[in-house]
Amino acid sequence: MINQETKEKILEAARIEEVIGEFVVLRKRGSNLLGVCPFHNERTPSFTVSPAKGFFKCFGCGKAGDSVTFIMEHEHLSFPEALRYLANKYNIEIAEEAPSAEMIEAQSNRESLFAMTEFAKNFFRDYLWNNEEGIAIGLSYFRERGFTDEIIRRFELGFAPDKWDGLTKAALDNGFKLEFLEKTGLTIINEQKQYDRFRGRVVFPISSLTGRVIAFGARILKTDPKSPKYLNSPETEIYHKSRSLYGISLAKKDIIAKDVCYLVEGYTDVVSLHQAGIENVVASSGTSLTVEQIRLIGRYTKNITVLYDGDAAGIKASIRGIDLILEEGMNVRVVLFPQGEDPDSFSRKVSTVELLEFLEKSAVDFITFKTKLLLAETAGDPIKKAGLIRDIVDTIAKVPDAIGRAAYLRQTSTLMEMSETVLLTELNKILRGKIAKQQGSQGSQSAPSSQNYQGSQGFDPGPPELGPDGEEIILNDIEKQAQEEEIIHDELNTSNQEEELIRILLNYADLDFVIPGTEPEHPSAPIPTVKVKNFIIGEISEDGIHFSNELYAGILAEFSTLVEQQQQYEAQSFVQGLEETLKATAISLLTTRYELANWEEKGIVVKTDKDHLDKTVIDAIVYIKKKQLDKFLYELQREIKERVVENIEVDDLLEKYNRFLQIKIELNKMTNTVIQK
Ligand code: UTP
Ligand code: MN
Repeated sequence: MINQETKEKILEAARIEEVIGEFVVLRKRGSNLLGVCPFHNERTPSFTVSPAKGFFKCFGCGKAGDSVTFIMEHEHLSFPEALRYLANKYNIEIAEEAPSAEMIEAQSNRESLFAMTEFAKNFFRDYLWNNEEGIAIGLSYFRERGFTDEIIRRFELGFAPDKWDGLTKAALDNGFKLEFLEKTGLTIINEQKQYDRFRGRVVFPISSLTGRVIAFGARILKTDPKSPKYLNSPETEIYHKSRSLYGISLAKKDIIAKDVCYLVEGYTDVVSLHQAGIENVVASSGTSLTVEQIRLIGRYTKNITVLYDGDAAGIKASIRGIDLILEEGMNVRVVLFPQGEDPDSFSRKVSTVELLEFLEKSAVDFITFKTKLLLAETAGDPIKKAGLIRDIVDTIAKVPDAIGRAAYLRQTSTLMEMSETVLLTELNKILRGKIAKQQGSQGSQSAPSSQNYQGSQGFDPGPPELGPDGEEIILNDIEKQAQEEEIIHDELNTSNQEEELIRILLNYADLDFVIPGTEPEHPSAPIPTVKVKNFIIGEISEDGIHFSNELYAGILAEFSTLVEQQQQYEAQSFVQGLEETLKATAISLLTTRYELANWEEKGIVVKTDKDHLDKTVIDAIVYIKKKQLDKFLYELQREIKERVVENIEVDDLLEKYNRFLQIKIELNKMTNTVIQK
């Protein structure tokens, strides 16, 4: 573990313009630097870097952070990895904090496994290029398949000798312990024997996200009905099948750049597509697609195009996997290759341009694809068709956003020659079922979460259908209530006001201002001023206002501490001291559009809120107090209603209600005038 002192040294040394300048061309704009954002596609630059504050922020996509965050996001590194990167760049020696004995052991164990797989990869690769058997059998096989030498090297393909102990012996001779050969699955050990798992096969090394070899896939070369065509490493401490994707380390940059990821079946498809110049491609090799794999892709793009080979057998099996992708909120398209072709074989028959054109032209969205595929099967059989409706609508129901669902519904209705209303009724049944299920599992009385509500938003529930025991009606009521609650909840949400207060604090905490209407003690005395942070923190704690947004509440708490300890506020060190989760929010609120535009250089004077700080601060406080009052009033109203139903005295509540109402009226008057303390 890197110790705290080193961390601080690194943060001090890292000059953000240098760190980012290595990846983004930055041009000077006033006191800031401006460039084209590396995190999203844009033509006009909106990516700003502030050397003074040590932050970056993109006004296009909203990404913001400091040097470390930038390296983490851009290079897809973890926090400690990013620190090491910067330490290396600035020649800072890393002082490690003594980790616990267990950590050392776990770490050294993992490192030993990585060293083992690295050794094996080099062994197989060298055997392919340098050994007679490797060249004659392995290399010639790859070349016959049409792989170029360059691509064979890029993927570090190899050959496992046709011997019982080729790798095992070499590893032991090189000082590797048998334990690690076994733990990586490279050597199989049973009572009497120990022997290589991969023998007489060509080898595809499988890498982690950061490009370290974690496992292998190996293809047989002769036809042997007794042995499987491909053998893979077993699950190990460093290889989790469900979380790995073949090709991801080589593909990630291009997935981001193209904003789409091609998903293929296996090793050879990935390799061949790379050779054809398409690098944003990964394979789920062997296993059917998992949620973890989808989320891994989701870190780089929301668009997945699945490439299927032309025989229908595999397609139906993998359709379930695709429903999973939809559920993750990703956009899925499908390309079906001509009969008998897979991406590997097809890519070798056409030019890159033709291939790209084919992919572009034949990609259809998944729901259309599924509808057409299943429709062909029903072949006019009305009973089968009815079953199909349910199936397709089930899939549409998995799409998390309402607008997407509506679009799919329309499309499906055309494809199936089926009225939209029928499909809609079916869809709403499924959605309602989902809501009921979620509510059931949450306990019957709790108010539905916003997600449930969004699940049904944008759809006319249609005429209520009465089930044999009226259950549909009950569900409809629950849904209606959910909607009402949600609307009220939105109106009473103080998140915007909280944001404004935090923004003011971050930018102006230590400035002084005069509370409007304040008089000096004597005519000759100066008008008393107050610091922004003291005023805001004081007002909020006095009224017992609680922030509902966790991030703003977290930042507010830091300001409270600052005020309590009577410390000065300094933006950069304040943000540096925040928890990781709060940093981006704080930075984003600190960096305003005014800085980007650099108006002053153009001779335009912008009146910022600094110029009428008193009004800015007072307004923000008054607004949040008004919202808070609305909340109290609403809660009182509900309590009164409940009591009325139960025939309980309400006079005390009414009195309270009227008092709050009076305060609200007062506050309303004040909003655009002044506040008296
Ligand atoms: P293929 O059967 O097409 O493999 O499966 P191939 O190596 O390209 O063989 P030929 O030359 O066309 O006959 C395509 C992908 O499916 C995975 C592999 O990743 C392979 O690249 N696969 C196939 C397995 O994982 N296991 C198998 O048994 C078969
Ligand atoms: Mn093949």
